[in-house]
Amino acid sequence: MEGQMCDVERRLIYNTVRELRPEVVVECGTWMGGGSTLAVARALQDNKLGKLHTFETDLGFYASALLGYVQEQAVLLPFITFHLDDFLTHRNMANADMAILDGPEDMYYTNACLDILGVGDVNTIILHDWKEGKCAEASHHLGLHGYILVTELDTLTGMALWQR
Ligand SMILES: C[S@@+](CC[C@H](N)C(=O)[O-])C[C@H]1O[C@@H](n2cnc3c(N)ncnc32)[C@H](O)[C@@H]1O
Repeated sequence: MEGQMCDVERRLIYNTVRELRPEVVVECGTWMGGGSTLAVARALQDNKLGKLHTFETDLGFYASALLGYVQEQAVLLPFITFHLDDFLTHRNMANADMAILDGPEDMYYTNACLDILGVGDVNTIILHDWKEGKCAEASHHLGLHGYILVTELDTLTGMALWQR
């Protein structure tokens, strides 16, 4: 299965899920399923606890990811629900323990996600492409909702872990 993240980014995701033992993780941007989705699912499996709800709007990517897990990682399927849907349309994502944002190249979309997650129970947020324009105003929105920057990875496009 193909995935878009480098090893150090995948490790940060895996280790955070292992350490915090979240019951519910939500993710914006599945793509082919072999990047962040796989890192979360492996950690949940190792925790023997939790569920990842991953959202993807592109039918081709959604189908490819689902098929990839059925064929190559079926053991992880109990820990993942794949949604062919816009992350923002699922307001109950604010009830999750942890969120991973790796969706569209749109700063206003990122801001809207953070404002919904921030008024809910989500205490841990990982943002991929932290150095990119889509996260340009993210610090401001995260700060408004009481999150503190815990870890920042200086990878090609960057990754940041915020918690409250
Ligand atoms: C950077 S890729 C995700 C990479 C993936 N997390 C990985 O580690 O391999 C971004 C994905 O977000 C999807 N996407 C775009 N808008 C979305 C939305 N509103 N809700 C959910 N997914 C979306 C795109 O189709 C694309 O597959």
